[in-house]
Amino acid sequence: MPDREPTEGQLDSADPQADTAGQADTAGQAASAAQQTASAAQQTDPAAQQTDTAAQAALAAARARMVAALRDTRRALDPLIQDAFGRVPRHVFVPELPPATAYQDEAFVIKWDADGVPVSSSSQPAMMAIMLEQLRLGPGQRVLEIGTGTGYNAAVLAQIVGDLGHVVTVDIDPELVQRASASLAAAGYGSVEVSCGDGGYGQPAAAPFDRIIVTAGAWDIPPAWLDQLTGDGRLVLPLSIRGLQLSVALQRAGEHWESSSACRCGFVRVAGAFAGPESTVAVGPAPELFVQVADGSPADAEAVQRALAEPPFEVPAPVHVADVAELGDLDLWLTLTEPGLDRLTLFSSGPGRAPAAPLVPMGGLASEPGSADRLGIAVLMPASKGAGPPRAGRAGLPVAVSGYGPGGPALAGHLAGQALAWHQAGRPGVTDLRLTVWPAGSAKPQTTGQLEIKRPHVGIAAGWAG
Ligand SMILES: C[S@@+](CC[C@H](N)C(=O)[O-])C[C@H]1O[C@@H](n2cnc3c(N)ncnc32)[C@H](O)[C@@H]1O
Repeated sequence: MPDREPTEGQLDSADPQADTAGQADTAGQAASAAQQTASAAQQTDPAAQQTDTAAQAALAAARARMVAALRDTRRALDPLIQDAFGRVPRHVFVPELPPATAYQDEAFVIKWDADGVPVSSSSQPAMMAIMLEQLRLGPGQRVLEIGTGTGYNAAVLAQIVGDLGHVVTVDIDPELVQRASASLAAAGYGSVEVSCGDGGYGQPAAAPFDRIIVTAGAWDIPPAWLDQLTGDGRLVLPLSIRGLQLSVALQRAGEHWESSSACRCGFVRVAGAFAGPESTVAVGPAPELFVQVADGSPADAEAVQRALAEPPFEVPAPVHVADVAELGDLDLWLTLTEPGLDRLTLFSSGPGRAPAAPLVPMGGLASEPGSADRLGIAVLMPASKGAGPPRAGRAGLPVAVSGYGPGGPALAGHLAGQALAWHQAGRPGVTDLRLTVWPAGSAKPQTTGQLEIKRPHVGIAAGWAG
């Protein structure tokens, strides 16, 4: 299964599962106290100044390595984006981390709610790069970011738009707004306009925008995001489709909106007036494993726990996939073409993930998630080499479906069979997926999508042509 690492897009990782950066506050205070002591010492001590220069050089080298890694992964990373990542000092935005750690290509959770569910993080740079490419942002443009978090992405946006452009960023959490404002000023991006409020309402006073980027997982598309864009504006957002998050770029096509690219991701959810109905249930006894069911009835936490505690029933599927990204494509196709099933997302920020490891962070498909007697959970896995039936497709990873719970074997058998239908349909994948979006109440446009979803403020069709 594609890991969350936006190893190419499969996965973000501004995702709620990032399991780094514990004890944020204490560590952050210690880091900033150390920085203050160091700078006081430098004023008088030339040796301390030299140490500081060496530390800065080490951070610049770490930043350059991160950019090189992004470029290698993305192959054709836009030079403007490369340049911005090379200039913005990420360590200033995550002071709770040892500075060099900040340049690892990882997401870092910076805040959890009272139940231990992550509510804010610094997104994984590889995922940021994917979204920035989707955004097609250029110098001189006006851009609105929903979800300030650390402020790092806002700084990267500001670096790209330059002095002639303007960045407005909004976060719903006042504490984070304060923190991000301070970091942006410290890093030299004090011109970014940071605002506290529900970003679902956009920022009418500063509209219109050439670009809007949402960095929290959206279930609905509030009218403000569409209305506050210029005529040829572009909206990039992680959108939940049957519980799978897809980062999509939308542009106007007459009265409706069409996607030009999509890639899988996993962001913390949008809060506030436009939050989705997904219920998050802690799966005991370890409190750090959580389960969400998309759009459906809440999961029976005890039943999920019991199901995951037993070894799964593995059914070989009659296909090979080239790599984990293609396994993710099969997972996406099954999710979109099996409306009778629910999508379960499991996430964890600690050792409680152990029993569910194969399902974190991608989740799986479930039947009867609220029923202790009939619950089935199925997850696609690379099978052990050579095992199983003859398989269609080029040599690569053989696929198996693992079924958990009383309904697991039947569900796994069904999905393993459907894998062949996916192969016969030409292996539709995330890069060919097209979304059409239209405001609720407006006429539904002609669509080729197989799946139609109604949200309070928009209709969405998703699918593949042909
Ligand atoms: C993944 S973090 C954003 C990462 C950020 N862009 C960065 O570079 O660090 C998601 C953020 O969205 C914020 N958020 C959630 N719902 C929101 C809403 N309705 N309006 C504005 N911000 C929201 C959260 O408080 C959280 O800080």
